[in-house]
Amino acid sequence: MLKKVALGIFAVLLVQISSFAQSNDIIIRTRHVALVLRVEKDHLRQLYLGKALEDDKEYEKISSDNNKPAYSTFGTDNLFSAAIRVVHADGNPSLDLQFVKQENEKINDSITLTGIDLKDPAYPFEVTLYYQAFYNEDIIETWTTIRHQEPASVTLYNFASASLYLNAKDYYLTQFHGDWAKEMQMEQNKLSSGIKIIDSKLGVRADEFNSPCFMLSTGKPAGENSGNVLAGTLAWTGNFRLLFEVDNANQLHIIPGMNPYASEFPLKPDTTFTTPKFIFTYTNKGQGQATRNIDRWARSFGILDGYKPRLTLLNNWETTYFDFNESKLIHLFDQAKEIGVDMFLLDDGWFGNKYPRNNDHAGLGDWQANREKLPHGIGYLVRQANNRGIKFGIWIEPEMVNPESELYHKHPDWILRLPDRPENYQRHQLVLDLSNPAVQDFVFGVIDSLKTDYPPGIAYFKWDCNRTFTDAYSPYLGKNQSALYIDYVEGLYKVFKRVREKYPHLPMMLCSGGGGRVDYGALPYFTEFWPSDNTNPIYRIFIQWGYSYFFPAIATCNHVTGSGDYSIKFKLDVAMMGKLGFDMQINKLKPSEIQFVRDAVKTYNQIKDIVWYGDLYRLISPYKSNKAALMYVSDHKDKAVIFTYLLHEELGDMHLPVRLNGLNADKKYRVKEINLPEGTQSHCPESGHIYTGDYLMTVGIHAPLRGDGSSAVFELTTE
Ligand code: GLA
Repeated sequence: MLKKVALGIFAVLLVQISSFAQSNDIIIRTRHVALVLRVEKDHLRQLYLGKALEDDKEYEKISSDNNKPAYSTFGTDNLFSAAIRVVHADGNPSLDLQFVKQENEKINDSITLTGIDLKDPAYPFEVTLYYQAFYNEDIIETWTTIRHQEPASVTLYNFASASLYLNAKDYYLTQFHGDWAKEMQMEQNKLSSGIKIIDSKLGVRADEFNSPCFMLSTGKPAGENSGNVLAGTLAWTGNFRLLFEVDNANQLHIIPGMNPYASEFPLKPDTTFTTPKFIFTYTNKGQGQATRNIDRWARSFGILDGYKPRLTLLNNWETTYFDFNESKLIHLFDQAKEIGVDMFLLDDGWFGNKYPRNNDHAGLGDWQANREKLPHGIGYLVRQANNRGIKFGIWIEPEMVNPESELYHKHPDWILRLPDRPENYQRHQLVLDLSNPAVQDFVFGVIDSLKTDYPPGIAYFKWDCNRTFTDAYSPYLGKNQSALYIDYVEGLYKVFKRVREKYPHLPMMLCSGGGGRVDYGALPYFTEFWPSDNTNPIYRIFIQWGYSYFFPAIATCNHVTGSGDYSIKFKLDVAMMGKLGFDMQINKLKPSEIQFVRDAVKTYNQIKDIVWYGDLYRLISPYKSNKAALMYVSDHKDKAVIFTYLLHEELGDMHLPVRLNGLNADKKYRVKEINLPEGTQSHCPESGHIYTGDYLMTVGIHAPLRGDGSSAVFELTTE
């Protein structure tokens, strides 16, 4: 059904007002965001993207003068980057997409799916553009499907998930980049004429250098609480490309999608190629609001069980590395019990017999418990943990293989490596060929057997992935190597789906040498992710800060470790801003510190619902000063938790004034400094007193911070 809807106006477009009403526009709308498309001369064009108008009828006044193709093609009259480029079966390199029809489906009261069919008038080649609007969360997901009925395969060269436009005088792009142990570093730059590309060519562990997340502000650089911001991210666990092109008329084209790099895709007739979802929000209230929109959407739709509790844990990686045995582990179970966490997580090193995993040279692929280290097997460990009232979780890296493994010798054809060239290792390992269904079965089997073989059951998995693609060649794909980057990820998703069909609520941590794989393609299958192998609390403040723009605290695993010469309180305060865990020898701490850890876990259990399910307000950025502060506010604004940090002391820092945000101005809140070591008193003058939200947001509180790496945490409660 072609639905007749009202027209739209684009707030950041310099538009001419037309007095002619249009009748062939399509409005994709949430509470505060509108994307309006118009059919003109049989082609679908973007008319408007921005803040939704109060009155939908007003959109019809917009002129078409500045509009752009809703999905730009290559080969006809487009002179800028194309969202889609194909070569037809007969060699014709052009594509013309004309509007066919639009359908709306109401998924529920607040989610609407719009599908718009486009077709080439000269070829049996069709594209459907999908827009899923989440009314309450102000999020739009957009993706496309591509199919044809030509006599032979059509080669797809470009296949973006969307093409969107903004029109403003200036554009500022905030990107998130880094490397191993310094993930999600933020940088904001002005875009100038021409093309800026942020991409990944890493295959797996694809986000290691660049994240598929960005914020784009128009007019002036984005502020936390002001400014027009489009925040977007691609839900794809492989190579991605975010392309930004400022054209001759100073319009900005945003073209996000899978990276077409070395990935021309031969699409057979009557098969559907689906691009990943591009997820975006738009707000005129700054980056903070964009984050809150994304977080709310993410908890409901973007991560697994986003409104269900998480398990606090003790991990043994930074404690033992590969050097452990049964009694060492059981001793750690006792420590986990002692500090009051929910679970023990056994990390790398527990498997391999012919090629024991005693270091990172051997064992990957052989997922049987090492008999020397663990003579009674995994089931025994599960029972020992459970007997102590804690759950048991385990580390796996099922996509990888060491040449020193039985798997390597048994299934040489399952491994990605170039024929006739030497193998190229990262961390002494190679990647298995997930485009091969037999390998998908194997990877699923790793989890499935661990789950079924050891009743009463492994309660948690940490799924790791510790190298990228290099020298990649799939024996399974043979002559069709350019499909590898995409087919690998599709194969991985098939495995994730099978795991979730059988174990829908099993908590799993997404890890990839730290944060090399944090995206909303994988996160719907995972309850949480490991942001970085860098656990030094000062670096972690920056890394966690970066992730906070796109990923909610409930999914962000922060562990207190031995890294960094800082107090246990500082480490705890930094870790408590997300999902708390530990990875340290608890019994090496002083008795007073152990007592503090025990108390802190109890404190965390009292505030965790606010951190996990509350709205985030970033207050002081570590990028702009020597301090950092942020707070979480509960849904009804009746509770809040504030985290404040002094990274490096400067003269005059002793009392850090922090103006709060997100409170109800009329409500009265009692301020209390929490997470203080036993016997110490708060030096915050406001602690213990009652203030209105208005006061706290205008005057603020004075966090008493002294010395490098000091911190204070506050709880606000209403009477
Ligand atoms: C990766 C992870 C770490 C740890 C090691 C184990 O680096 O990010 O947390 O699990 O692998 O080898």
